[in-house]
Amino acid sequence: MKIAVLRETAAGERRVAATPETAKKLAALGAQVAVETGAGLLADLPDADYAAAGATVGSRADVLAGADLVMAVQGPDPEGLPKGALVAASLNPYQATERLSAYAKAGVDAFALEFVPRITRAQSMDILSSQANLAGYKAVIDAAHAYGRAFPMMMTAAGTVPAARVFVMGVGVAGLQAIATAKRLGAVVSATDVRLATKEQILSLGGKPIFVEDEETAAAETAGGYAREMSDAYKAKQAALVSETIAKQDIVITTALIPGRPAPRLVSAEQVASMKPGSVIVDMSVSQGGNVEGSRADESVVTPNGVTILGYSNYPSRMASTASSLFARNLLNFVQTFWDKDAKSLKLPEDDEIVKGAMVVRGGAIIHPALQG
Ligand code: NAI
Repeated sequence: MKIAVLRETAAGERRVAATPETAKKLAALGAQVAVETGAGLLADLPDADYAAAGATVGSRADVLAGADLVMAVQGPDPEGLPKGALVAASLNPYQATERLSAYAKAGVDAFALEFVPRITRAQSMDILSSQANLAGYKAVIDAAHAYGRAFPMMMTAAGTVPAARVFVMGVGVAGLQAIATAKRLGAVVSATDVRLATKEQILSLGGKPIFVEDEETAAAETAGGYAREMSDAYKAKQAALVSETIAKQDIVITTALIPGRPAPRLVSAEQVASMKPGSVIVDMSVSQGGNVEGSRADESVVTPNGVTILGYSNYPSRMASTASSLFARNLLNFVQTFWDKDAKSLKLPEDDEIVKGAMVVRGGAIIHPALQG
């Protein structure tokens, strides 16, 4: 079985889907691993390290020729993918439907890593968690960098410097790490979410929960653990609470997402205008439409009242080296889970829960129920 590891082509994408460490382990399973020249360069992983790990390094055409499994971070261009191959990548299935159709047409199967169900057995393959965790950390570091004051309280001979006040909106994987990171830097942290379960989590990290609590909050979480789109009445209550809270904050990190829908708008231009000059907002949901009015993808916007709004569209890529090592291990865990030792190849049983959850294209058609109609 031949595994191809591609160099990413999307603008701003610095990650790679396999590292020398995982390439070695894939080779040890009995796979032939072929890595495109320069695939790991932007994640500080030189070609020579892949070669030393037992992979061949070559052109895209050579790497793809006869490949059975194509590993990538983002969905690769369908052109040149061999018929019958399986692509495993983060495929952005809700938005990139044209590319999925192109895979189907080319006879290429596709496994969307972001659709891997969040069950215990699949935890080690969960790219959403591995990448969002790093993103939450980096967002706080970016905010601290853009902020012209200190995070921790400092008592010095020249006087006392107050601690920064950080407000995290959306307490999933990224938000939890943002809270933990801001606390470690010495900030006073508060956080909000629509899912009540996060209240305990905020408290356990030393943050202060700020919540709208009504009958709707109790049902805000879906069976899958995600948030629902909330009603207009709830949104009005939430907006009032945010208005009350946000003017007192120095840093706001927003991470709120609803699967398959645009990101909820949580902060209005008026609320941004109520913040002090020098405050920093990081809108981590900018590529899904943004939680903050006025945020722009990959731009640093400074509002007339001196608030900086950062909106990086690919957070994990800003930590390409660590993000790649975790992404690559997620993919290695996927391969190891479905590896047939005797046949020395991947076997993906159609009735397996993980396969059912994440196979989006099979046998020339888009098969995933969430993508029908
Ligand atoms: P996500 O990226 O889909 O959303 C981020 C956060 O935004 C969520 O906490 C969500 O509740 C919140 N949010 C959505 N709309 C909002 C609004 N209007 N106002 C405020 N907050 C809003 O979430 P993520 O990080 O993917 O986590 C989703 C769930 O999956 C969580 O319950 C998490 O604990 C769970 N999870 C389970 C895992 C497992 O069992 N293997 C692994 C990782 C996460």
